[in-house]
Amino acid sequence: MVIYFTGTGNSRFLARVLASALEDELVSAPELIKQNKTGDFRSEKPWVFVSPTYGWQLPRTFRRFIEESRFEGSAQAYFIMDCGSGTGNAGEGLEELCAAKGFEFRGMAEIKMPENYIAVFSAPDEKTAEKLLHIGEKKALRAAELIRAGELLPPQKSGLLGKFLSGPVNWGFYRFTIGDRKFRATDACISCGQCADNCMVNNIRIENGRPVWQGSCIHCMACICRCPAEAIEYGKHSVGLRRYYLN
Ligand SMILES: Cc1cc2nc3c(=O)[nH]c(=O)nc-3n(C[C@H](O)[C@H](O)[C@H](O)COP(=O)(O)O)c2cc1C
Repeated sequence: MVIYFTGTGNSRFLARVLASALEDELVSAPELIKQNKTGDFRSEKPWVFVSPTYGWQLPRTFRRFIEESRFEGSAQAYFIMDCGSGTGNAGEGLEELCAAKGFEFRGMAEIKMPENYIAVFSAPDEKTAEKLLHIGEKKALRAAELIRAGELLPPQKSGLLGKFLSGPVNWGFYRFTIGDRKFRATDACISCGQCADNCMVNNIRIENGRPVWQGSCIHCMACICRCPAEAIEYGKHSVGLRRYYLN
């Protein structure tokens, strides 16, 4: 079973490629998370978790979802982590998660995809994004071949810098960077409410026709990138930046 987490669609894109190559079932974790549900899964095929990288680790929300879900059948777990630049030492955290869940860790494939984190960085132009998607698709197909053959995914190298990024920097990132005080709706807002619908953690309430963020944002970038009127900004940083989203 292929289970994905996504903010702006990259991981769903890769998960679809994997599910189709493996002729396996596709499950959206955000849909369950939005309904405040965990999973009760059964599969005889290996579990394949597909996720963006947040702060050089699996996003905490997805990790919690896996921790709190039930998995019956196969004990093998593969991970595909897409990222803008790198996953640091995320593999170690995945091994710990597998040990806690009774999974056999079968490896992680790091796949570079278009950067979506426009609160802090910027998204690539359309041409570059397309190239990355093309390469990403090939890498996902290669991972699917290995999974289908019952092989391990090749180990990811991670040095001291990776440990630092996935350790203290990840901690500081959640402590100081993730938050929603800088989000605002501009006068371009058309009161469509899509930002609230697109928020998997139900952190947006529409008040007087405008979104109001409620303080438990996970920075997935769905609201700002999917706004049809491009009426959401994050401080001054996002002004003029290209919005990135895949359907
Ligand atoms: C909150 C947040 C944190 C991120 N942290 C990292 C990171 O540590 N390393 C990295 O290479 N990319 C990072 N990115 C980029 C995403 O992992 C990458 O663009 C991913 O493909 C987005 O997937 P999605 O479209 O499925 O949400 C981050 C993005 C967000 C929104």
